[in-house]
Amino acid sequence: MKKIMVIAGARPNFMKIAPLMSEIARHKKKMHAVLVHTGQHYDYKMSAVFFQNLNIPEPDVYLNVGSGSHAFQTAKIMMEFEEVVLREKPDVVIVVGDVNSTLACSLVASKLNIRIAHVEAGLRSFDRTMPEEVNRIVTDSISDWLFVSEKSGLTNLRREGVDAGKMFFVGNTMIDTLLSHMKVIDRSGIVEHLHLNKKDYCVMTLHRPSNVDSTESLSEIYAILQLISRKVRIVYPVHPRTLKMIKMHGYFSRFRELDNLLMVEPLGYVDFIKLVKESLFVMTDSGGIQEETTVLGVPCLTMRENTER
Ligand code: UD1
Repeated sequence: MKKIMVIAGARPNFMKIAPLMSEIARHKKKMHAVLVHTGQHYDYKMSAVFFQNLNIPEPDVYLNVGSGSHAFQTAKIMMEFEEVVLREKPDVVIVVGDVNSTLACSLVASKLNIRIAHVEAGLRSFDRTMPEEVNRIVTDSISDWLFVSEKSGLTNLRREGVDAGKMFFVGNTMIDTLLSHMKVIDRSGIVEHLHLNKKDYCVMTLHRPSNVDSTESLSEIYAILQLISRKVRIVYPVHPRTLKMIKMHGYFSRFRELDNLLMVEPLGYVDFIKLVKESLFVMTDSGGIQEETTVLGVPCLTMRENTER
């Protein structure tokens, strides 16, 4: 019986692990999963609601690391996770995506000679100022199995000299989750709840440091919002990091005063996807939302200089 340790830490990880957990459960004679939640995201709205929406089992281990600088957060996850690996002795560690939890747990597993599978391997933005790009490069270089979600991933890994026998072009587990939850998503009443009409509003999400961590970038975004909100209602579920930044840089009340900008708290999975599905278009700096809008057929304006998708 193989022990498969699955790592989840931050919001975009949860929809990627959901189908893995159910697939492992289907093969219960051969393997079993130990789910480790690092606690990188810890609020109900950033974490627990996704476990409920996606029927992910309660984590077996919760590391409770919380927020902090990159070095602090990564180091704290590593210290806590090393103890877990020594105690549990997994056969394989599965990491997904590109967040600090992905990097920290793969480094620990690698040093303890535990085999690592990386789901969503090979994506590259070629922009090393993005923390996620560093996480992707390091994680891929120490993983034993690279599960690739799109063809560019294969090209990138080949260019980096990765052995073809390690790469598997398997598609996208986040989209598996999207398609398997479509009926539940369609039952969400979020559009009516927010007093919106279908295809009569757009959705915006922003959280990348390059967009929200400076007064210059926030003032550009404010100017964009002023323009667009004259033409169409904008629904904006505000990420906690962004809320902190717009308050810190003095933009909170200016955003609030825009008539056609509806700022709401972060939404759960089902409500968020329904909101996107019925929207006219989406503006985002998220990676996953670029993929989800593609499948939903909703135009997506990616508010970044580059994209790995
Ligand atoms: C992280 C990921 C990013 C992913 C994003 C999705 C890294 C390097 N970045 O960025 O790739 O797209 O998650 O959300 O791993 N906070 C809360 N409650 C929470 C979690 C965070 O209030 O549950 C606040 C904290 O003040 C924290 C800030 O948000 O300082 C940033 O959180 P963090 O996980 O460090 O990075 P994200 O910007 O969310």
